[in-house]
Amino acid sequence: MAKLLHILAAPRADGVSRTRKVAAAFFDAYRQAQPNATIDTLDLFAAPLPEMDALGVEAKLKHQAAEELQGAVAQRWAEIERFVQQFLAADKYVFTAPMWNFGIPYRLKHYFDVIVQAGLTFRFVSGSVEGLAAGRPAALLTSRGADYRPGSPFAPFNQQEPYLKAILGFLGITDFRVAAFEGTDSHGAEERLALAVEQARALARSF
Ligand SMILES: Cc1cc2nc3c(=O)[nH]c(=O)nc-3n(C[C@H](O)[C@H](O)[C@H](O)COP(=O)(O)O)c2cc1C
Repeated sequence: MAKLLHILAAPRADGVSRTRKVAAAFFDAYRQAQPNATIDTLDLFAAPLPEMDALGVEAKLKHQAAEELQGAVAQRWAEIERFVQQFLAADKYVFTAPMWNFGIPYRLKHYFDVIVQAGLTFRFVSGSVEGLAAGRPAALLTSRGADYRPGSPFAPFNQQEPYLKAILGFLGITDFRVAAFEGTDSHGAEERLALAVEQARALARSF
């Protein structure tokens, strides 16, 4: 039975958030197509993501060096590892995230700083790296104030999709699909929302 992890990084409420409208279309279609699938939602604006401050980095590096972790460092590592294990327990990923400042919302970047861990989500092998989440599909459900479709003047500014593609690829995830509501803030937005909803439904049926 498929286990999907929904990583929600759109802080505005259902009915208000344009990104969540795309997500709602996806999940309606997905539940219809796969009624037995499990869906876990991780709301990144509510989750107690462990800080990757000096203590967080110490925990990361000591774990990576296979050193013994004690006290506060061990405690911080345990918090980090809970998120890593939740990520690894899924076999499909859906990211619901608007474009913010040409990239992803900061809580989603924070999440990657927590879960990208040597020996758990990737490993070093003979001078190279191997992603340990290979073979799992991922999808981005998004909305963006401007239109970033190929050929549009804003297209070169899109750091959101290339970043996600790179970091997921690093974890071995190469099946990366996108449904995007482009140009939420300009004329003709309703038609572009309808397009994104269709895209999201089609994506869900083959996910
Ligand atoms: C903090 C912040 C930064 C944003 N940065 C961009 C941006 O760089 N490019 C863009 O096209 N739209 C940007 N927007 C607009 C949002 O991408 C757009 O309004 C989107 O539909 C918001 O999604 P939501 O309705 O789910 O909150 C930004 C919005 C916010 C709140």
